[in-house]
Amino acid sequence: MIIAIDGPAGSGKSTVARELARRLGFRYIETGSMYRAVAWAALQRGYAVEDADRLTALAANLDIDVRPTSVEDGRKYDVLVDGKDVTWAIRSQEVDGKVSIVAAHPGVRAALTDKQRAIGRRGKVVMVGRDIGTVVMPDAELKIYLDASPEERARRRYQERLARGEQADYAQILEAVHARDRLDRGRDVAPLRAAEDAVILNSDGLSIDEVFEEALRLVKARDC
Ligand code: DC
Repeated sequence: MIIAIDGPAGSGKSTVARELARRLGFRYIETGSMYRAVAWAALQRGYAVEDADRLTALAANLDIDVRPTSVEDGRKYDVLVDGKDVTWAIRSQEVDGKVSIVAAHPGVRAALTDKQRAIGRRGKVVMVGRDIGTVVMPDAELKIYLDASPEERARRRYQERLARGEQADYAQILEAVHARDRLDRGRDVAPLRAAEDAVILNSDGLSIDEVFEEALRLVKARDC
């Protein structure tokens, strides 16, 4: 019983996946947080994120733990690295800027894919990422590829920032969305793409509730 949800940043996949997991009583695993944890640990240690050998050894040896929320501060889960709570630290702009480079190293991907499969083998999980349906869990019972246009995704991020009272520049955000898409889609190993047997949902012009209802309909149709 594995539900794989992939798609680009800002497609709404985390929100939909979290709600699905809650409704079904499944665990919710956001694999991006594991790539972020490796990027954070590399920056802490002063490693160059381009150093494939060092980063591969780091990813293989790092103790990354994703657990249910222990603090009510808006977080969706706890992320611990070597026992330290890094839930918010891995969301920093510094990590944002480096994580795509870290995620492009084949050795890093192999190490994290192993960890993700070990979690998946326990079943009853909604796993979210870029390559869950194609590489990590190719036998998942249901695969959803959640898409949205770059403009729509940039607009959502722009409005989130304004809502938090932050300054935001739409053109700059749109350029960052395009840049991240190029890195995630263009890498040699496990690039972002829909699995052949994935159901593609485009969320342009839909509310998150509408996307969730559609995903729930797919789950029910599969008897997950
Ligand atoms: O979903 P996110 O923004 O937290 O992901 C962080 C980075 O990790 C992003 O550059 C894509 C990458 N990633 C990946 O390559 N494979 C995954 N399964 C999940 C995330």
